[in-house]
Formats: sequence, C-alpha cells, structure tokens
Amino acid sequence: MAVRVIRVLPDPVLRQKAKKVTKIDKSVQQLIDDMIEAMRAAPGVGLAAPQVGVSLRIAVIEMPGSEVMVLINPEIVKRQGERLVPEGCLSVPGYQGEIKRSVWVKVKAQDRQGRNIRLKGEGLLAQALEHEIDHINGVLYVDHVEGSDKLCKLVSESGHERL
Ligand code: NI
Repeated sequence: MAVRVIRVLPDPVLRQKAKKVTKIDKSVQQLIDDMIEAMRAAPGVGLAAPQVGVSLRIAVIEMPGSEVMVLINPEIVKRQGERLVPEGCLSVPGYQGEIKRSVWVKVKAQDRQGRNIRLKGEGLLAQALEHEIDHINGVLYVDHVEGSDKLCKLVSESGHERL
C-alpha cells in the first residue's frame, strides 16, 4: 500500500475532535502500521491519526533511538512545569513556532493490544505527547503561539523535529 498522505492546514479533519477507539480490530492495526510508515517517511517523531485523515484517537511516537510507541485513546492525567520550546508540525509545513509546553507529563492510554498503560515523559517526549494529544482534540501548536513574532517561516525543513 502507498504511504498515506499527511494532511496539512486548512484540512478540516485536523480541526475535528477525534472519536474514541472502541474496538481494536484489523482496520485499526492496519491504520497504526500505516501511521508508523507515514511518520518515518516524513520524517517525523510523532503522528496522530487525524493527520492521515482518520478522525480516531490514536497517536504514534518514535523518539530518536527508542522503540515506537503506539497510544490508543491517550489522555494526559498529570502535567508539571513549563518551558518555552521550538515546535514544528508535519501538518503545518514550512513553519516553526515557539510555545510553552510542560516539562513533564503523565499519560494513560491503551497499547495496540488493548492493554491499559501509563507512561511518563519529560523533555521532547513530554512535548510530543502533548502535541499528539492536542491533534486528536483538533488543536494545533499554532493555536498556542502567542504573537506573530513567535511563528517563523523556515528556509529548510531539515534539521528540526516535526510532530
Ligand atoms: Ni503535528
């Protein structure tokens, strides 16, 4: 199957609140595989299902040097601290913004076998978790940018992490 196309602004699917996954069936497994493939092809460190046009609460994250994480129905249960970080999104190509993210987050979700999991993340992982969970709520990082001077056009897409 061809790599799924990553939706970009102003695609309305990016603004929908995605539906909860109630049954992890074959089509969901296929979607997860496709999302991992699209994320790697982009390349990016995270991707949410609405970014491939599917309004479901699923995200994948792959930190450099770590195993890929699959999160179904993820929710942030705790967050701590605040830091200013540069952020980019595969659905907002050509731009980077500076926004506030948590230093540390705790997330509950299900894995692709449907088991309940809890995980903690800090730094880039916390940022990716907040970014992808925003996506499934129809929120984009540009919504968190305060002031036009905090969003800038990129000369090149290389050399920065996209989520
Ligand atoms: Ni994104």
